[in-house]
Amino acid sequence: MLLLQAYCSQRMIDRQTVDRILDAANIVDVVSDFVTLRRAGANLKGLCPFHDDRTPSFMVSPSKNICKCFACGKGGTPVHFIMEHEQMTYPEALRYLAKKYNIEIKEREQTDEEKAAQSERESLFIVNEWANEWFQSQMNDTVDGRAVGLAYFRQRGFRDDIIKKFQLGFCPDKYDAQWQAAKAEGFNEEYILKTGLCIRNEQGKTYDRFRNRVIFPIHSISGKVVGFGGRVLDSRTKGVSIKYQNSPESSIYNKRRELYGLFEAKQAIVRQELCYLVEGYTDVMAMHQMGVENVVASSGTALTSEQIRAIHRFTENIVVIYDGDAAGIKASQRGIDMLLAEGMSVRLLLLPDGDDPDSFARKHSAEEYQQYLKDHQVDFIRFKTDLLLNEAHGDPIKLSRLVNNIVDSVAVIPDEITRTFYIKETSQMLAVEERIITSAVARVRKRQQEERQKEREREARAQGQAGSQPQQSTPQQPQPQGDTALTPEEEAIIAGVIPDTNASEGAQQEAEAPTINIKSARRDSEKAILQTEALVVQMIVRYGELLMGEFEDNDGQLQKVSVAEFISLALEQDDLTLHDERHRQILAEALEHIGEEGFRCNRYFENHPDLRIAELATELAHDPETLSKIHEKSIPVRPEEERLMELVPHVITDYKLAIVDDELHSLMQQLCSKEVLESKELSGQLMQRYQELKQVQGELGRVRGDRVMM
Ligand code: CTP
Ligand code: MN
Repeated sequence: MLLLQAYCSQRMIDRQTVDRILDAANIVDVVSDFVTLRRAGANLKGLCPFHDDRTPSFMVSPSKNICKCFACGKGGTPVHFIMEHEQMTYPEALRYLAKKYNIEIKEREQTDEEKAAQSERESLFIVNEWANEWFQSQMNDTVDGRAVGLAYFRQRGFRDDIIKKFQLGFCPDKYDAQWQAAKAEGFNEEYILKTGLCIRNEQGKTYDRFRNRVIFPIHSISGKVVGFGGRVLDSRTKGVSIKYQNSPESSIYNKRRELYGLFEAKQAIVRQELCYLVEGYTDVMAMHQMGVENVVASSGTALTSEQIRAIHRFTENIVVIYDGDAAGIKASQRGIDMLLAEGMSVRLLLLPDGDDPDSFARKHSAEEYQQYLKDHQVDFIRFKTDLLLNEAHGDPIKLSRLVNNIVDSVAVIPDEITRTFYIKETSQMLAVEERIITSAVARVRKRQQEERQKEREREARAQGQAGSQPQQSTPQQPQPQGDTALTPEEEAIIAGVIPDTNASEGAQQEAEAPTINIKSARRDSEKAILQTEALVVQMIVRYGELLMGEFEDNDGQLQKVSVAEFISLALEQDDLTLHDERHRQILAEALEHIGEEGFRCNRYFENHPDLRIAELATELAHDPETLSKIHEKSIPVRPEEERLMELVPHVITDYKLAIVDDELHSLMQQLCSKEVLESKELSGQLMQRYQELKQVQGELGRVRGDRVMM
């Protein structure tokens, strides 16, 4: 059964099979199925399938087995090309390639629990798939269905192609028509009830949840029916019944995760590099009818971080559409902050006169509609400013509230550069000095960080005490995460090294001149850490599993040590952990798999399911410059693989030097701060550490020098 297969694609594929697929997949083959390629020297070239490409920017390298667009940057290994192009998950892409290369897939052995859970979910999907067909045929193939259900949608202005595209249906006005039909189909009663299609009351009678409602099936990202929404017909909206009834939560339907329309929208979202967010089922449909297909609905509830991440998989850019009711807009403040905290770029759009995207559609042509969307989206700062500035009427207290409101939003943005950009924009729009906004943002971030810390402590305590009590989840109370550390600059503002904008003008000007140099020196030294760290990780990605040599352990035994292990040991020696999260993950996974037969770091990481890791690994594995840069003095006659004993310790030493250098800068910064200058004891301690580090720096420098000479 097709459905079963689609579901199975979520199951684990064993490592050896994965490796066979990765080895078989040939980039030229794989890309050629979708893009016409022409020779260009050692490579091949074509029109990029990921953006509107006029000149061939898409390069395919047979030797490296990767592809990349030089205009939009998309590309990667064969698996990633398929993931991106077909909008598949990692296992789906592997299965696609397995099929293409006739590789048989061996499933990992499942536990009994896994099997039971899987079979329940599969069964619910099968029931839902059947119900979806049934609702549609009730609407399209019965007299009542056409007269009531289909007539309802048509009268609301929906075209037949849209009705079909969204697989709309109808549940007849009978007590248990669906229940009877489902049983006649032979489905297990337990599963019919678990999908929530039918409800059993206390008297033991079973009836249809959706009777006399029109039906909107809800699809998962990969297109399976996870649930339904059912709307009462117009005539009854004012009565007692709730306008929309939705499927209850089940093992296949999790409201926090699903977004209505994402399955139908995902390709368009990628193509347009943008996603519109609306409230309701009919809004999504109306926008499709207007030719706008990159749209999803949160279905009337507060946005969750799971939903945001689902969108983020396809684009960073989101436009939230509001139906002009100021109270509603203010209430959704939280949603905006969550989007910002997840690193999305957020624009907002207000529809006029209380129209929602659906009612607005009925008053305009497709061209007008699209033009309106284009012309009226503004970034969240302009949106808030426009909205709140009117109310403020020059009242200074309201104005400062407005500034604070915006500062609160800017503060959750994880990326420093984006934050800086918005700080500039805010200062321009509100004619407030940039420094003031910068330090206000730093303060809010400090506060948020402390709150998160307390929150974590509270949780830890609560978990310790609660014992068997299930952890309370609060679905409507999403906490903006944005859990990024303060930047050194923000720390400095708070620590007072960089002048606080609240201080008097005179004091600021005196203090400003010397701190700037320390600040920029610190920034350079931090950059150097990441650069040298990348070189260390590059060694892991390229040669992680290769043997460095044999070393005596504490018992005098000779032990074989791989490059990754050597690096890990060298870091442990000085109690160092890698700074970058992806770097840490690469090292950890390398160590985890290195014992496995046939394991190769470069193949493993370049094809990693986490695209961020894969992209980084691909870059590190193929970047021709980095290593020659550090070794420009020696003549690269021997291949790198043969010089590991020389190269690996070298990059590690450079990395350690960079860390020491940075800590020295940090100490300098601290030594200049007011607090330290005023305290003899503090400055004494810091000076001592400074001396120690200077010594370490000298030693490392000598080691490095020796090596360069050899
Ligand atoms: N909703 C719901 N349950 C309700 C009311 C609303 O699940 N009792 C969800 C639905 O997904 C609905 C969305 O919230 O599409 C927005 O609600 P609303 O704006 O009231 O409905 P519309 O989408 O405008 O629906 P219609 O145009 O059919 O009235
Ligand atoms: Mn509506």
